[in-house]
Amino acid sequence: MLSVLFLRDESPEAIIEMSGKLRVTDGGDQSMHKLTELPAWERLFKRIVWAQIGDLKGLSILDFGSGEGVTADHYAADNALIAVEPSRGMLAGAWKDHAYTQIVGDVSALSAFDDGSFDFIICHNVLEYVDDKQAVVCELARVLKPGGRISIVKHNRAGRVMQMAVLLDDIEKANALLDGKNSTASKFGEIRYYHDSDIAAWCGSLKLADSYGIRTFWDLQQNQEKHDREDWQKSMAQLEMRVSQMDEYRQIAFFHHLVFIKESSQLPKSEQRFTVG
Ligand SMILES: C[S@@+](CC[C@H](N)C(=O)[O-])C[C@H]1O[C@@H](n2cnc3c(N)ncnc32)[C@H](O)[C@@H]1O
Repeated sequence: MLSVLFLRDESPEAIIEMSGKLRVTDGGDQSMHKLTELPAWERLFKRIVWAQIGDLKGLSILDFGSGEGVTADHYAADNALIAVEPSRGMLAGAWKDHAYTQIVGDVSALSAFDDGSFDFIICHNVLEYVDDKQAVVCELARVLKPGGRISIVKHNRAGRVMQMAVLLDDIEKANALLDGKNSTASKFGEIRYYHDSDIAAWCGSLKLADSYGIRTFWDLQQNQEKHDREDWQKSMAQLEMRVSQMDEYRQIAFFHHLVFIKESSQLPKSEQRFTVG
C-alpha cells in the first residue's frame, strides 16, 4: 500500500515538520509500529474507538491534539491527514509509519485553512485540557465540510466516579467528583469535565449522530495482569462494543465517544452523510 503525502499549495507557516516517509509496505514490514507496543489500556482504547469510527478511505482528515500520532498514523494509511499538536514533547516519539502532515500548534494554526477543508475531524481526549473549549469546537466546525463528521472522545464523570469507588476504593475522590470537582491526569494536568450536550450548545451547526461508551468494564477490572494478552484484549473489545450503545452501560463508561455531523442547509438530509467504506 502506498501512502500519500498531503501537501497544500499554500502551506501555512505553522507547518514546520513534515512527518512520515513515503513507504511501500505489504504489511510485513518489521519496522512498522504495532498496537501491541502500547500499554494495555491504550491498546484497548484505540481498538474500540477505531472500531466505532470504522474504515475511512480517500478522505481529508484533521486530527486535532494528535498527541503521539497513533490515531493519525492509523488513518494516514488510506487518507490525506493533517495532525495538529502543540506539545513538542508528545511529538518526539510520534508514530510516522504512514505519511501525514504534522503541524506543531494549537487552534490558531487552523486559521490557515479555508472553511470546509476537511471531510472528517478527530479530536480525542483533548478538550478537557483546552481553556476555551467553545472557541475550539466552533473553529473545528468551521473547517469541517457541510455533511462531514467530527469524532470527539471525552471523559465521562460518572465513569471516573465508578472507577474511584470500585477499582481504586477511593471514596473521598468519588465524593469530590460527585460534588463537581475535577480530577487529574498524570501527564496532562487537570481534567476539566464538560457535558456531552455542551458541544451542540456551543456550536449550532453540529448535530449529534452517534454516541458510544468506551472502557465501560475495563476501568472497573481488578485482575489487571491479563490485560496485556491479545486474546483477552480481543474478547474485551468485543464485549465493550456490544454494550457501547446501550444507554445503561454508556452512562457509566469511562469515556464517551460522540460523533457529530455538520448540518448543511443546501443538501437534503438523505445526502448529508458521505460513504464510509
Ligand atoms: C490525552 S492526550 C490525547 C492525544 C491523542 N488525541 C490520543 O487520543 O492519543 C491530550 C493531547 O491534547 C493536547 N493538547 C492540550 N492542550 C491543547 C490545545 N490547547 N490545543 C490542542 N491540543 C492540546 C496535548 O498536548 C495532548 O497531546
